[in-house]
Amino acid sequence: MKVAILGGTGSFGRALAARLAAVGEDEIVIGSRDRERAREAAAELGVAGDTNEGAVAGADLVVLAVKAETALETARAVAHAMGETPLLSVATVLVFSKDGVRPDPDARSLAERIQDVVRGPVVAGVHSVAAASLRGGALDEDVLICGDDREAKELALSAMARLGAGRALDAGPLANARTLEGMTAVIVNLNRRYKVHAGVRISGFHE
Ligand SMILES: NC(=O)c1ccc[n+]([C@@H]2O[C@H](COP(=O)([O-])OP(=O)(O)OC[C@H]3O[C@@H](n4cnc5c(N)ncnc54)[C@H](OP(=O)(O)O)[C@@H]3O)[C@@H](O)[C@H]2O)c1
Repeated sequence: MKVAILGGTGSFGRALAARLAAVGEDEIVIGSRDRERAREAAAELGVAGDTNEGAVAGADLVVLAVKAETALETARAVAHAMGETPLLSVATVLVFSKDGVRPDPDARSLAERIQDVVRGPVVAGVHSVAAASLRGGALDEDVLICGDDREAKELALSAMARLGAGRALDAGPLANARTLEGMTAVIVNLNRRYKVHAGVRISGFHE
């Protein structure tokens, strides 16, 4: 499938593009606000690069991996070009303080707010996967994805299952993005306290 990664010049977008390109099953295009920046990063990664608007054209799945505070604004900017294309939001707004990292105080998740501004179905997930873990090769942790549209969720699950040895798991309706995004704050605190790149592994599945 053709996967467009918006914010593909960033830490997470680059790592995701490189990992999916290494697996080799999808056509990857990274997007940026700046076409030249996209093309330079794309050349390093061995994928295609374009503006965010250009990258979504003809994509089967759009991964919104821009800086979280700008995710809504970026979704609005590409909404017309995306049409009905499914969007996977990996973004989490975090509140940093000297006492630690807290989740976004907004009662609705960022993913639900993104669904308000795009026509295609929004799914949310992969928040718990650190860019550094993706750079480490095949992923040894689970990926949780939620969403209300079954087809869009299956599409995202099948793409993200290619990341590695962990499972890509259906975490229910899009409202659960509130929990998945909130879990990111927990993980970032763990990373800081224990100097690790923590991830999630769900127990109870028997091989
Ligand atoms: N880092 C991780 O380990 C990790 C893990 C899971 C999920 N995430 C999520 O993935 C997303 C990207 O994280 P990151 O660490 O890669 O962030 P980042 O490097 O700070 O930013 C990613 C990209 O966002 C774009 N951007 C920056 N300011 C923007 C603006 N004002 N308007 C539109 N685009 C803007 C930039 O692309 P251009 O300048 O090229 O347009 C930048 O390369 C975040 O939403 C984060 O919550 C990150």
